[in-house]
Amino acid sequence: MNMKNTSRRPLVVGNWKMHGSLESVTTLLNFLRHELQNNTVVDVAVCAPFVHLPLCRELLTISGIQWGAQNVSEHTVGAYTGEIAASMLADLGCRYVLVGHSERRALFGEMDAMVIAKIKQVLEAGLKPILCVGETLAERECDATEAVIARQLHAVLGALTSEQLAELVVAYEPVWAIGTGKTASPEQAQAVHAYIRQLWKEKQPEQAERLIVLYGGSVKADNARLLFTQPDVDGGLVGGAALDQNQFCAIVNAAEQAWNH
Ligand code: 13P
Repeated sequence: MNMKNTSRRPLVVGNWKMHGSLESVTTLLNFLRHELQNNTVVDVAVCAPFVHLPLCRELLTISGIQWGAQNVSEHTVGAYTGEIAASMLADLGCRYVLVGHSERRALFGEMDAMVIAKIKQVLEAGLKPILCVGETLAERECDATEAVIARQLHAVLGALTSEQLAELVVAYEPVWAIGTGKTASPEQAQAVHAYIRQLWKEKQPEQAERLIVLYGGSVKADNARLLFTQPDVDGGLVGGAALDQNQFCAIVNAAEQAWNH
């Protein structure tokens, strides 16, 4: 029996992190646009390093695949050496921007206030933020998963208007599953995804059923299908496996199967 809610389209997003060269990105994008040309069921995007975004625009414009960035400045414009403004990402045809990825929170000191400022910039530029939330292993082990998710989400839910919140995608990425090969079980993922939707419902009752909640953390070709068949898992945010052309296509296909059956 299909438990998928048909008011939500599945979304599979690759997060390439700091990987790739002009040559490897060209090969990967050419493969994806060819392999996925008949896909009409799954929304697909790649979040590339800033410097590879022009190449995404060049190679993906007439494909159904969209592209996005992994980070953005919290400022609009000005003397911020080394920063990239959301308007610049819009200029390059980006559709999505990852915000609050756990690597940015843990390694670059991004706190909830900065995450909110970045989301506002992304929205102002007409792009869609993918807000990443998730608990560490220590937090899960002391049963603080829901408290952590609630803090991260409430910060954002309390700071944005309904219109702004309607544009968000949420990605649940348990930190202990990122790059470790340890995936959350389908049941663990479903429990947190349902909790995220419930928190959304408390603040934005009409939006909760439409909210796209992605799972991220060691999604691979061989575990994607089971994760995606969970009722509140609307797709994936894929790290390592997004760099492998065959795995990434297999993950997109797994989403298609989960929705079709
Ligand atoms: P992995 O798929 O490599 O675990 O990375 C997940 C992630 O951080 C995606 O944003």
